[in-house]
Order: sequence, then C-alpha cells, then structure tokens
Amino acid sequence: MTGETMQAWRVVRHGAPSEALELQEVPVPEPGTNEVRVRTAATVLNFNEVDGCRGRYLTVNPPLPYTLGMEVVGVVDAAGPGAEQWIGHRVMATATGAFGAHAEAVICGAEMVFDVPPGLDDRDAAAFFFPFHLAYLGLHTRGNVRPGEWVVVHAAAGGIGSAAVQLAAAAGAHVIATAGGPEKLALCRELGAEVAIDYRAGDFAPEVLEATGGRGVDVVFDTVGGEVGARSLPCLAWGGRHLVVGFSSGIEEEDEAGITPRPLCFGSISLVGVMLSYQPDGEPRPFPGINRTDRSVGDAVQRELEQLLAAGVIRPVVGREVTHLELPAALDAMEQRLTTGRTVVMW
Ligand SMILES: NC(=O)c1ccc[n+]([C@@H]2O[C@H](COP(=O)([O-])OP(=O)(O)OC[C@H]3O[C@@H](n4cnc5c(N)ncnc54)[C@H](OP(=O)(O)O)[C@@H]3O)[C@@H](O)[C@H]2O)c1
Repeated sequence: MTGETMQAWRVVRHGAPSEALELQEVPVPEPGTNEVRVRTAATVLNFNEVDGCRGRYLTVNPPLPYTLGMEVVGVVDAAGPGAEQWIGHRVMATATGAFGAHAEAVICGAEMVFDVPPGLDDRDAAAFFFPFHLAYLGLHTRGNVRPGEWVVVHAAAGGIGSAAVQLAAAAGAHVIATAGGPEKLALCRELGAEVAIDYRAGDFAPEVLEATGGRGVDVVFDTVGGEVGARSLPCLAWGGRHLVVGFSSGIEEEDEAGITPRPLCFGSISLVGVMLSYQPDGEPRPFPGINRTDRSVGDAVQRELEQLLAAGVIRPVVGREVTHLELPAALDAMEQRLTTGRTVVMW
C-alpha cells in the first residue's frame, strides 16, 4: 500500500440503494497476479447492483462493508505479474469478483479487460461492454440466431436489452421487443424492433403469436425471468431457444425450482444459459457448475463488435449520465424501472 486513499461507494447496510450506500475514503488497492488497476473515468449501473444493495444477490455477496460496482472505464496505471502489457491502455473492464468498481481506482482480472473500441469516448465505452458482449454471446455464440428468424427481446429498452435488439436486427432477424410504457417502446422501435409490446399493460404472448402468424419465435432473449420467462416458452416455435440471461423480476428465482419439463418436451425447444465471464483459454473450471467462456472467444466477439460499431450498425445507448455523487439516487431509479439504456456515472 502506498498510503494513497480514494473515494468509493460502499454498501454499509442492506436496503434501497440510497439507504445502503455511503461514499467513503478507502485505501487505493494494489493489483495482484494477472490483475490491473484502472484509474476510473466512468462506471455504469447494473441491475444486479440493486440486488447487491438489497442483500439478495448470492452470486456476488461479499461481507459488509464492500465497494459496489461491476464495470469500469479508464486508464491502467499499475499491473501485477502477467498483466504488465495493459499498462497505459484505455480500457473497459470488470472488477475482480464483480464488485469494487464504483470507486476512483479499480482492480480487474486481465481476462476481463478489453481496449476501448476506437472512436468511443469514456461515456459510450462505459455503456458498451456488458450489453454488447453479453448480447452477442447470447444471440450468436449460444443462441445461433439466423437471418430471417424471429427473436423476442424482453426488457428491450434496458441496458442489456437495447444491445440485444440492435444485434438481433443486425443479424437479419425480425425483432419483437417487450418493455414497459410508450417511451420505452419508442426506443425499441428506433433500435430496430419491428414489433414493440407493452408487457406491463397485458399478456404479451398473444401478440407475439399474432405477429408470427401463430408459428412462434425462434429465440427469446430473457433478462427478466419469472412469469415473463414462463409465459415465453409457449411462444417458441419448433427448435426454439430460450436464452436464460437474467432475473430482473426477482433474483431469488436463480435458486428456485421453476420450469417443468412439459413445455420443453412437447415444444421441442431448448433452454440455453448465457453468462458473460471470460477465462484464460483452457483454464480448468473453478468448480462444477461454473463454465466460463475462453478469452479467445471474447477477443473474436470484440472484433465483430468493433466492425459493427465502425459500420454504424450498432451504438451504445446511454439513457442518462450522472456524476458519482448522484449514483445512489440513480440506482434507486433503476430499481423503480425508470431507466432506459444505460446509466453512466462520470467520476
Ligand atoms: N448472464 C449474465 O452474465 C449477465 C450479465 C449482466 C447482466 N445480466 C442481467 O441482465 C439483466 C438486465 O440488466 P441491466 O443492468 O441491463 O438492467 P436493465 O434491463 O436496464 O433494467 C432492468 C429492467 O428490467 C425490467 N423489469 C422487469 N421486471 C422488473 C421488476 N420486477 N423490477 C424491476 N425491473 C424489472 C424493467 O424494464 P421494463 O420497465 O421495460 O419492464 C427494468 O428497467 C439483469 O437481470 C442482469 O442480471 C446478466
């Protein structure tokens, strides 16, 4: 430790973000083996950070107090053994353990560090990383989407959803978006959705079936889960793929018994899990049940995405930019479903 300190948003108790978080002065951390330290220009809100504040996110559940935050954009100013090649790079990265990012300096594992794509400023870079990598892994690497197929994207005006709409449209698919309210539906159409359904106003399933002439869709990109996920299964056509990406309607569902085998068997459909987490190629998995994606796949995804960006086919969607002092209130707004695209936090 150098004795240098920094500001960090720490979860000090569980509750709504504005109750759970305190801005504290903490030591600037040092990178370990295969880690870098990023000096923060921007961070970005993730829905799971709401779950973290509430104390119900079992996947990332460090003891209190801890620094919240998953993603950071900035310049690498220090690196541990094996990660020295990143020093001086302007990067977008995931904090080690997926917490610790809402701070002035952030430690990140090198396998989750990427150069900022050419032409993106800090704000757009912060909005870019998770949504486009995750949506690409879901739709292409895992979901094998094909031109002419029909794709439903749930919570399509959100951070991840707004990228999934664009990438599905870019793949030549017909996109049906679901979201809550007219403003969100308008954004979905602007991003390339042919059909936009307000799933908070009524059941979306009949509208999905009507849009496809009763046939059903080929892919459902589902970050919502719960009732929305269950209602999606009968919407899938023969050979359809339901991408299990997130659980914004209730993270507890991750560990609850839910879907019965009947719709899978009689629908001839597949459930397909998708996680954004890269590892050094060929590294043994940490324990059974966790399978990360090789970094070489991530590098290929990044190259594809950079081409689509350069061609103007996709764009990061920043719904709102806030200062770091406004972070807890902005996270409250995310919990209340008031955000569109990504909320970027400038430091
Ligand atoms: N698999 C992975 O590796 C991975 C990585 C990152 C993120 N994710 C997942 O992706 C999802 C989206 O993350 P995000 O940060 O981009 O958030 P987001 O989609 O921008 O925000 C969440 C949205 O979900 C919708 N929603 C549906 N039911 C809700 C409910 N009961 N309460 C609150 N919101 C509800 C709301 O949109 P409407 O108002 O339109 O309904 C809300 O705006 C999260 O579930 C997250 O866990 C997964």
